[in-house]
Amino acid sequence: MNIVAIESSCDETSAAVLANGQIRSNIIATQLIHEQYGGVVPELASRAHQQHILPVVDRALADAGIPKRDLSAVAFTRGPGLLGSLLVGASFAKAMALGLNIPLIEVNHMQAHILAHFIEAPRPAFPFLCLTVSGGHTQLVRVDGPLTMTVIGQTQDDAVGEAFDKSAKLLGLPYPGGPLIDRYAKDGNPLAYRFPMGEMPGLDFSFSGIKTAIMYFLRDNTKQNPDFINQHLANICASIQHTLVQMLLTKLKRAARETGISQIAIAGGVSANSGLRMAVTQAGHELGWTVFIPRFEYCTDNAAMIAMAAQFKYEAGEFTDQAISPMPRMEL
Ligand code: KG4
Ligand code: ZN
Repeated sequence: MNIVAIESSCDETSAAVLANGQIRSNIIATQLIHEQYGGVVPELASRAHQQHILPVVDRALADAGIPKRDLSAVAFTRGPGLLGSLLVGASFAKAMALGLNIPLIEVNHMQAHILAHFIEAPRPAFPFLCLTVSGGHTQLVRVDGPLTMTVIGQTQDDAVGEAFDKSAKLLGLPYPGGPLIDRYAKDGNPLAYRFPMGEMPGLDFSFSGIKTAIMYFLRDNTKQNPDFINQHLANICASIQHTLVQMLLTKLKRAARETGISQIAIAGGVSANSGLRMAVTQAGHELGWTVFIPRFEYCTDNAAMIAMAAQFKYEAGEFTDQAISPMPRMEL
């Protein structure tokens, strides 16, 4: 079975080929155009997808050494994501499936982030818990099977990736700021400054309060010392990261306790964060969890995870009609 998969939900145009259970290529074209605007501009994202999609798919097929005639199915991200961006991938995938006369498979982007854990060993066993943390989502998911997932907790406002990116913006860092906070935090003291973690009942999260707290903190300090951010950047980044990671960890521990599940995975763009990776690993040692952390290239958006999810759907006989349209707000 050979599957070509396309991911175009946000600002990465990606194509991957999965052949006989192995990822053979995973090409990602990142759109740098958004950096100067401090966030993803949907219209520019769609145009960039349109430019990138053909060369990216061709390259994925060439690198995998799989000719088009040997493909068994075409997979694409149906949602959630930006409508204009999703439309480019969906239309391309439909046309390709039609032209090659092979089945089409729709994939839920958030499900795919979780199924990225099955690309290579060690693979989690069912049931496991996954903390999915990205630029648009923060979810605690109980995973009972490859296509059987239940959200048991989620953010009520901003996603944690958004909290990272918005904090970075307040610090004058370019978009996306999450990876930069991670980098500067390495040289800082995580306990230098304290930010409120807020109270959220049950397994839900809230990240809008901390963003406001950081805004006032920076305003007050730069009033006294205009060079405050430059002089203390590492400590500020380390403290912000520490707070966000602790907020995630508190709920993850609670979810593990309440469900009795000790197979714990993290997924999504923010799972590339070194502070989170370390904290989850350490909690695993303390609490007897088996921890699963994806390789960096499978944390942020990529089509390999879409191909992986598509393989499970192919095996389950879940194919998609040509009449389907993208779903910007698709639920898990
Ligand atoms: O999963 P993803 O690539 O796209 C979405 O589906 O949203 O996640 C992107 C998010 C961005 O908010 C980005 O800042 C964040 O992941 N991110 C990080 C790191 N790498 C990516 N946040 C903190 N530390 C990182 N190392
Ligand atoms: Zn994503």
